[in-house]
Amino acid sequence: MTQNKNSKLMSDINPVKVAVVGTGSVGSTTAYTLLLSGMVAEIVLIDINKDKADGESMDLNHAAPITTDCRVYVGDYSDCNNAAIVIITGGANQKPGQTRMDLAAKNVKIMQDIVPNIVKNAPDTILLLATNPVDVLTSISYKLSGFPASRVIGSGTLLDSARLRYNLSKYYKISSESIGAFIIGEHGDSELPVWSLASIAGMRLREYCEKSNQEFDQDALQKIFEKTRSAAYDIIKRKGYTAYGIAAGLVHIVETILKDEGSLLTVSTVGDYFGVKQVALSVPMKVNRTGAHHVVNLSLDDEEIEEIKKSGQNIKSVCSSLGY
Ligand code: LAC
Repeated sequence: MTQNKNSKLMSDINPVKVAVVGTGSVGSTTAYTLLLSGMVAEIVLIDINKDKADGESMDLNHAAPITTDCRVYVGDYSDCNNAAIVIITGGANQKPGQTRMDLAAKNVKIMQDIVPNIVKNAPDTILLLATNPVDVLTSISYKLSGFPASRVIGSGTLLDSARLRYNLSKYYKISSESIGAFIIGEHGDSELPVWSLASIAGMRLREYCEKSNQEFDQDALQKIFEKTRSAAYDIIKRKGYTAYGIAAGLVHIVETILKDEGSLLTVSTVGDYFGVKQVALSVPMKVNRTGAHHVVNLSLDDEEIEEIKKSGQNIKSVCSSLGY
C-alpha cells in the first residue's frame, strides 16, 4: 500500500499511554476505571512491590478482551517515556483516626524518590497526584519536578466537591448534576464549602428554597458540609480505605486533559491564592491538554476569604516544617 505523503504510518503514532505509580487500592482501582473508560491504549503500572503490580496487571489484562482493547503492563520509570499523564498514588494511606496531614513526613520521602525518576524519563508529561496530603505533596512535587505549575496537578477537592453535591442531592431530592456547589482549599480538615456561590437552576440556594417552597436551613447545610468533610474518615473506619470516589475523580481529570475540554475543576496547583503565595490548593481551575490553569478569582464573601487563607497557610506551614 502506498502511503499518502501527509498521512502517518501507524508505527509513527504514539498510542495514548498513562502510567500509574503505586498499585495499592487507589492505584489499581484507578487503572481499572481507566481501562473501562476506553480512553487509553496503554497503562503502565509501577510499584516497588513487583508481585502486587504483576498480579494487578494480569487481572486487568483479563478484563481487556471483554471490555476495551487496552494493554496493561508492569514497568519501571523508563516506561513513563511518552506517557501523556503519570498518576501518582503511591505511599502510605490513612489508618482509622489518622489525618491526611499525619502522612506528610512519610510520603514526602516517597515523592523525593518518585518525582525525579518520572521527570528524567518523561520531561513533557503531566503529573497527577492523589497521594495524601495531596496539596502538600503537590506543592513539593512542583519544586522537585521543575515543571510549570500547570503540569503538576493534585486531585485536590474534586472528590470533596462530588461528595458535597451528592449530599446536597440527597437533601434537596434533586440530581447532583443539577447542583452547582464546590469545596475549595485543602483536600482535608481545613477545606471549606463555597455557600455564597452554590446554586441550583441558576439560583443561589436561599432563592431556590424560597421559589420551591422549602425552608432555607443553614444548620442543615453546615451538617451536610461536616458530613462531606468527614467522609473519608467515615469510610476508612468501615472498610479501611477509600478508592472508588478518588479513582473516578482521577479518571475524570485524565479525560478532561486528553479531550482538551477546558472544564473548570476543583483541582490543586501551585499559585498565589487570596494573598497566600506559592502554595497548592484547590479552586476551580481550567483543565485542558496543557494541564490545570488558575484563570479566575472567585468572588468569595469575607468569611470564605478568611477561611481559604487559613487553609492555604496551613498547607504552607506543613510544607515548611518539611523543609520546603
Ligand atoms: C479521600 C482520600 C482520597 O478523601 O483522601 O477519599
